[in-house]
Formats: sequence, structure tokens, C-alpha cells
Amino acid sequence: MHALEVKNLSHWYGKNRILNKINLQIAYGQVVALVGPSGCGKSTLLRAILGTDPPSEGEVLAEGKRVTEPSRDVGIVYQHYSLYDFLSAEENVAFGLKLDKTSLPSRFIGLPTYLRKRREHLQMAREFLTRVGLEAAAGHYPSELSGGMRQRVAIAQAFILKPKLVLLDEPFGALDEATREDLQMMLLGFYQENLKAKQRGEQPQYTIIIVTHELNEALYVADRVIGLSRFHTEGSQGAMVVYDRPCPVLKPDASKDLSRLVEQREELRSAVFDPSNVKHHSKYVSFWDDLARDAQAAEAKQASNR
Ligand SMILES: Nc1ncnc2c1ncn2[C@@H]1O[C@H](COP(=O)(O)OP(=O)(O)O)[C@@H](O)[C@H]1O
Ligand SMILES: [Mg+2]
Repeated sequence: MHALEVKNLSHWYGKNRILNKINLQIAYGQVVALVGPSGCGKSTLLRAILGTDPPSEGEVLAEGKRVTEPSRDVGIVYQHYSLYDFLSAEENVAFGLKLDKTSLPSRFIGLPTYLRKRREHLQMAREFLTRVGLEAAAGHYPSELSGGMRQRVAIAQAFILKPKLVLLDEPFGALDEATREDLQMMLLGFYQENLKAKQRGEQPQYTIIIVTHELNEALYVADRVIGLSRFHTEGSQGAMVVYDRPCPVLKPDASKDLSRLVEQREELRSAVFDPSNVKHHSKYVSFWDDLARDAQAAEAKQASNR
């Protein structure tokens, strides 16, 4: 089963068709970058996946279950995430758990249980803050945190609920270059945890879709790039998936072939962002075929080494 499946999804705002028959299958542990020209419908697609704005046509399945409303299976982080000013970083991260696990009556009826749960939640929150590199700031309030630190808190807050999928909508767009690079490294840390889980034969925990308009960022943090665009032979019928390929170039488990990175960035720019490049929408949509071919090549190489 896939972590996420999008089937024939189309969306209209009034008479304006935004998305045209989007089909996607995303496996557990994939870190997917979603790129496309501004206004092409990336956030619209994320809202359909999140369940806040169901699509006009088609459906979204998370772990095989149809998404019709927001649930803890899918989390999201926006560019400007508003943390609660009156809660510390760890309290902000623990907040979702509290809503979920301790209802108001239980706090009055079972005070000792409530206090124990609260301690557990704060302990878990500190673990997640450590995972995003913020252990030292656990007790700080949002006003005492930089923009980059606040985004780390928001990311910890999304992951602590153990969703099947986390959506990041231009999460680093408001940050300066150096901070942005730090947060990209942090995302690669999640990717590495996925790899370790796979090596242990476990299901990887972090499945992520990150929307970004930075092509370098897409190729750096993700192992798969999906491009959404209106520029294809179907013309003014809304955006389709016009690019879907692996991009493992800079990952810990792949060769550091920088020429491939530069080549792929150009391919991506031309396939997704160039209005004069009008092609059939599926010309660069080959993720699953590419994956099978790479696996075959790796196997052949292993066999010849034996
Ligand atoms: N609530 C809405 N009502 C009408 N049009 C909308 C609404 N939200 C977005 N749009 C339009 O849909 C298109 C896609 O928007 P969006 O998904 O935000 O694009 P992106 O995230 O790729 O920049 C844009 O043309 C935008 O103006
Ligand atoms: Mg958007």
C-alpha cells in the first residue's frame, strides 16, 4: 500500500480549471519536492491532500483510506506558522498531543493521570525538539526565537503526531540563505533516519512533500521531484504533472555526481517553467520506470562484482 495516492484529481475555482487529472503514488519514506510556476496550483493540491479543500473531481487516499477532512494522518507546515505566543517551544510542540489525548473532563476527574500525561507529553516534545536541533531552546517563548527556530518548532509540532505524511508549503521561503541551508540539512537528517529504518527492514517513518520554488533546494532535500505546470499540449486546461523523476544525487546513499545535478536542474527548468517548451505532459513523467531501471542497473553491478 502507498502512503499517499492521488487519483484523477481535478480542481476548479468557478469556471477556472486549476488542476487537471493529477495522478500520484507516493511510497513510505519518500521525500518529494513539488515544484511549479507561481499560481499553478501547488497549494491547492496540498489542501486537497490535507483534506481542508476536497477536490472537485477525483480522490485522495492516505494509507488507502479516502481523505475527506483533516486528520492526524496528514500534517502541514506553512511558510508563516503561527505558534502560540503564550506557550514555550516545548509546550507548543506538546499542544497537539494534549488536545488529542487528554480531554477537559479527564483533567478534573483524574488530576494525577493528567499530570503524568502532561509530563510524558513534554518529555516527548523535548525529544522532537532535539531531533530538529532545538533542545537548548525548549523553554523559550516564540518571541525569543528566530524565524528559523520557529520553523523548527513548527516542524517538530507536525512530526510529533506521527502522521503518515507531512506537507511543507514553502517552509523556508521567509528565511535567509544560511538559515535555509541549516533547515535543509535538518530535513536530510529525516531522510537518513528513513534509510536506517529501511536497512533494519522497518517501514520508514518520514514521508514528506515539500513545495519549493528553489530548484537547488528541491534537488538537494528530496529523492523525487514532481513538477506541476500549465505548459503542455492540453493548453488552458489547468496544471498537470509534467515532471516526475528520482533525484538521489546528493543523498548519503548515492554517488556525488554534480554534473547530473546541473543537468537535472536544466531539465527541470525547461520541462516545468519554460512556457515555450510545450510538450505532451507525460514526456518527463517516468519516476517508477526510472526507479525500476536504477534497481536493475544496481543489481547487474552487484552481480558483476561477485
Ligand atoms: N480560494 C480561491 N478562490 C479562487 N481562486 C483561487 C483560490 N485559491 C487559489 N486560487 C487560484 O488558483 C490558482 C492556484 O493557486 P495556488 O494553489 O495558491 O498556486 P501555487 O501554490 O502554485 O502558487 C491561482 O490562480 C489562484 O489565484
Ligand atoms: Mg502556494
